[in-house]
Amino acid sequence: MSTTRNVAVIVGSLRKESFNLKVAKAMAAFAPASLKLNIIDIADLPHFSQDWEANPPQSVVDFRNKIGENDAVLFVTPEYNRSIPGVLKNAVDIASRPYAQGILMGMPGAVISASIGATGGFGANHHLRQVLVNVNMPILPQPEVYLGQVDKLLNDKGELDERTQKFLEKFLASFEQWITRNTKA
Ligand SMILES: Cc1cc2nc3c(=O)[nH]c(=O)nc-3n(C[C@H](O)[C@H](O)[C@H](O)COP(=O)(O)O)c2cc1C
Repeated sequence: MSTTRNVAVIVGSLRKESFNLKVAKAMAAFAPASLKLNIIDIADLPHFSQDWEANPPQSVVDFRNKIGENDAVLFVTPEYNRSIPGVLKNAVDIASRPYAQGILMGMPGAVISASIGATGGFGANHHLRQVLVNVNMPILPQPEVYLGQVDKLLNDKGELDERTQKFLEKFLASFEQWITRNTKA
Protein backbone atom coordinates (compact mmCIF):
# COMPACT_ATOMS: atom_id res chain seq x y z
CA MET A 1 0.00 0.00 0.00
CA SER A 2 1.46 3.38 -0.93
CA THR A 3 1.22 6.30 1.49
CA THR A 4 0.94 9.92 0.48
CA ARG A 5 2.75 12.27 2.82
CA ASN A 6 1.46 15.81 3.12
CA VAL A 7 4.17 18.41 3.52
CA ALA A 8 3.46 21.95 4.69
CA VAL A 9 5.76 24.33 2.84
CA ILE A 10 6.57 27.60 4.59
CA VAL A 11 8.32 30.19 2.44
CA GLY A 12 10.36 32.87 4.20
CA SER A 13 9.66 35.64 1.68
CA LEU A 14 6.49 37.67 1.19
CA ARG A 15 7.71 39.08 -2.14
CA LYS A 16 5.24 38.47 -4.99
CA GLU A 17 8.03 37.45 -7.38
CA SER A 18 9.99 35.61 -4.68
CA PHE A 19 12.55 33.16 -6.03
CA ASN A 20 12.03 31.04 -2.95
CA LEU A 21 8.30 30.87 -3.64
CA LYS A 22 9.08 29.92 -7.24
CA VAL A 23 11.40 27.15 -6.07
CA ALA A 24 8.66 25.89 -3.72
CA LYS A 25 6.07 25.95 -6.53
CA ALA A 26 8.42 24.21 -8.98
CA MET A 27 9.10 21.50 -6.39
CA ALA A 28 5.37 21.06 -5.75
CA ALA A 29 4.95 20.44 -9.49
CA PHE A 30 7.68 17.78 -9.83
CA ALA A 31 7.33 16.13 -6.40
CA PRO A 32 6.49 12.43 -6.57
CA ALA A 33 2.84 11.41 -6.14
CA SER A 34 3.77 10.06 -2.71
CA LEU A 35 4.65 13.57 -1.51
CA LYS A 36 2.12 16.40 -1.65
CA LEU A 37 3.61 19.84 -1.09
CA ASN A 38 1.11 22.34 0.35
CA ILE A 39 2.33 25.93 0.46
CA ILE A 40 1.01 27.76 3.53
CA ASP A 41 0.84 31.54 3.27
CA ILE A 42 2.31 33.45 6.23
CA ALA A 43 1.64 36.97 4.89
CA ASP A 44 -1.38 37.66 7.07
CA LEU A 45 0.00 36.42 10.37
CA PRO A 46 0.11 39.04 13.13
CA HIS A 47 3.29 39.76 15.04
CA PHE A 48 3.50 37.22 17.80
CA SER A 49 2.54 38.45 21.24
CA GLN A 50 2.59 36.33 24.34
CA ASP A 51 -0.37 38.41 25.54
CA TRP A 52 -2.76 36.51 23.29
CA GLU A 53 -1.44 33.04 24.07
CA ALA A 54 -4.60 31.96 25.89
CA ASN A 55 -6.87 33.46 23.24
CA PRO A 56 -5.04 33.74 19.92
CA PRO A 57 -6.43 35.53 16.84
CA GLN A 58 -8.32 33.37 14.33
CA SER A 59 -5.53 33.71 11.73
CA VAL A 60 -3.13 32.13 14.22
CA VAL A 61 -5.52 29.28 15.00
CA ASP A 62 -6.06 28.69 11.26
CA PHE A 63 -2.31 28.72 10.56
CA ARG A 64 -1.58 26.19 13.29
CA ASN A 65 -4.46 23.98 12.10
CA LYS A 66 -3.21 24.10 8.50
CA ILE A 67 0.23 22.93 9.59
CA GLY A 68 -1.42 20.19 11.64
CA GLU A 69 -3.10 18.80 8.52
CA ASN A 70 0.38 17.81 7.30
CA ASP A 71 2.90 15.10 8.16
CA ALA A 72 6.02 17.25 7.82
CA VAL A 73 7.23 20.78 7.18
CA LEU A 74 9.57 22.05 4.48
CA PHE A 75 11.05 25.53 4.96
CA VAL A 76 12.20 27.38 1.85
CA THR A 77 13.84 30.64 2.78
CA PRO A 78 15.97 33.53 1.66
CA GLU A 79 18.71 35.01 3.82
CA TYR A 80 18.29 38.50 5.21
CA ASN A 81 21.43 40.02 6.68
CA ARG A 82 22.99 36.61 7.16
CA SER A 83 19.98 35.28 9.07
CA ILE A 84 16.31 34.29 8.90
CA PRO A 85 13.77 36.82 7.58
CA GLY A 86 11.73 38.21 10.48
CA VAL A 87 8.45 37.01 8.97
CA LEU A 88 9.68 33.42 9.03
CA LYS A 89 10.93 33.64 12.62
CA ASN A 90 7.54 35.09 13.56
CA ALA A 91 5.73 32.19 11.86
CA VAL A 92 7.90 29.63 13.66
CA ASP A 93 7.39 31.38 17.00
CA ILE A 94 3.62 31.32 16.44
CA ALA A 95 3.63 27.63 15.52
CA SER A 96 5.90 26.78 18.46
CA ARG A 97 3.35 27.81 21.09
CA PRO A 98 1.66 27.06 23.48
CA TYR A 99 4.77 25.95 25.35
CA ALA A 100 5.48 22.24 24.96
CA GLN A 101 2.33 21.81 22.85
CA GLY A 102 3.22 23.69 19.67
CA ILE A 103 2.07 21.99 16.49
CA LEU A 104 5.63 21.80 15.13
CA MET A 105 6.88 19.70 18.04
CA GLY A 106 8.21 16.40 16.77
CA MET A 107 7.19 17.01 13.16
CA PRO A 108 9.88 15.97 10.69
CA GLY A 109 11.25 18.89 8.71
CA ALA A 110 13.77 20.05 6.16
CA VAL A 111 15.35 23.37 5.22
CA ILE A 112 16.15 24.82 1.81
CA SER A 113 17.73 28.22 1.44
CA ALA A 114 18.00 30.15 -1.79
CA SER A 115 19.67 33.45 -2.54
CA ILE A 116 20.70 35.54 -5.49
CA GLY A 117 24.11 35.63 -3.81
CA ALA A 118 26.82 33.01 -4.14
CA THR A 119 26.48 31.49 -0.67
CA GLY A 120 22.91 30.27 -1.15
CA GLY A 121 21.60 31.54 2.18
CA PHE A 122 23.91 29.35 4.25
CA GLY A 123 23.61 31.69 7.26
CA ALA A 124 19.80 31.68 7.23
CA ASN A 125 19.72 27.93 6.71
CA HIS A 126 21.78 27.25 9.81
CA HIS A 127 20.16 29.90 11.99
CA LEU A 128 16.83 28.28 11.13
CA ARG A 129 18.19 24.84 12.01
CA GLN A 130 19.26 26.24 15.40
CA VAL A 131 15.74 27.58 16.00
CA LEU A 132 14.09 24.31 14.99
CA VAL A 133 16.20 22.32 17.45
CA ASN A 134 14.45 24.21 20.25
CA VAL A 135 11.08 23.38 18.68
CA ASN A 136 12.13 19.71 18.84
CA MET A 137 11.76 19.10 15.11
CA PRO A 138 13.95 16.40 13.62
CA ILE A 139 15.47 18.20 10.63
CA LEU A 140 16.86 16.32 7.64
CA PRO A 141 20.67 16.54 7.95
CA GLN A 142 21.57 15.60 4.36
CA PRO A 143 21.44 16.59 1.62
CA GLU A 144 21.95 20.20 2.60
CA VAL A 145 20.40 22.60 0.08
CA TYR A 146 21.87 26.06 -0.49
CA LEU A 147 20.74 27.39 -3.87
CA GLY A 148 23.13 30.17 -4.86
CA GLN A 149 22.40 32.56 -7.74
CA VAL A 150 18.86 31.22 -7.69
CA ASP A 151 17.73 33.86 -10.21
CA LYS A 152 19.79 32.03 -12.82
CA LEU A 153 18.31 28.62 -12.00
CA LEU A 154 14.71 29.49 -12.95
CA ASN A 155 13.29 30.24 -16.38
CA ASP A 156 10.44 32.63 -17.26
CA LYS A 157 7.90 29.88 -16.63
CA GLY A 158 9.21 29.31 -13.12
CA GLU A 159 10.84 26.01 -14.01
CA LEU A 160 14.19 25.01 -12.56
CA ASP A 161 17.10 23.97 -14.77
CA GLU A 162 17.53 20.23 -15.22
CA ARG A 163 20.55 19.87 -12.94
CA THR A 164 18.87 21.68 -10.04
CA GLN A 165 15.62 19.78 -10.54
CA LYS A 166 17.46 16.42 -10.45
CA PHE A 167 19.24 17.46 -7.26
CA LEU A 168 15.98 18.54 -5.64
CA GLU A 169 14.27 15.31 -6.73
CA LYS A 170 16.99 13.41 -4.84
CA PHE A 171 16.50 15.76 -1.90
CA LEU A 172 12.75 15.00 -1.89
CA ALA A 173 13.43 11.24 -1.99
CA SER A 174 15.70 11.61 1.08
CA PHE A 175 13.12 13.80 2.80
CA GLU A 176 10.40 11.22 2.18
CA GLN A 177 12.55 8.53 3.84
CA TRP A 178 13.25 10.94 6.69
CA ILE A 179 9.52 11.55 7.18
CA THR A 180 8.88 7.80 7.30
CA ARG A 181 11.70 7.28 9.81
CA ASN A 182 10.39 10.07 12.03
CA THR A 183 6.67 9.28 11.88
CA LYS A 184 5.05 7.12 14.55
CA ALA A 185 3.36 4.05 13.04
C1 LIG B 1 16.72 42.96 3.83
C2 LIG B 1 17.51 42.08 2.89
C3 LIG B 1 18.68 41.51 3.32
C4 LIG B 1 19.38 40.64 2.49
N1 LIG B 1 20.48 40.00 2.97
C5 LIG B 1 21.06 39.03 2.23
C6 LIG B 1 22.08 38.21 2.81
O1 LIG B 1 22.47 38.34 3.95
N2 LIG B 1 22.60 37.22 2.03
C7 LIG B 1 22.18 37.01 0.73
O2 LIG B 1 22.70 36.10 0.09
N3 LIG B 1 21.22 37.79 0.17
C8 LIG B 1 20.64 38.76 0.88
N4 LIG B 1 19.63 39.53 0.35
C9 LIG B 1 19.26 39.33 -1.05
C10 LIG B 1 18.27 38.21 -1.22
O3 LIG B 1 18.98 37.01 -1.44
C11 LIG B 1 17.39 38.48 -2.43
O4 LIG B 1 16.68 39.69 -2.24
C12 LIG B 1 16.43 37.35 -2.71
O5 LIG B 1 15.86 37.53 -3.97
C13 LIG B 1 15.35 37.28 -1.63
O6 LIG B 1 14.59 36.11 -1.78
P1 LIG B 1 13.17 36.07 -2.55
O7 LIG B 1 13.49 36.28 -4.02
O8 LIG B 1 12.64 34.73 -2.27
O9 LIG B 1 12.33 37.19 -2.02
C14 LIG B 1 18.93 40.41 1.16
C15 LIG B 1 17.75 41.04 0.73
C16 LIG B 1 17.04 41.85 1.57
C17 LIG B 1 15.75 42.48 1.10
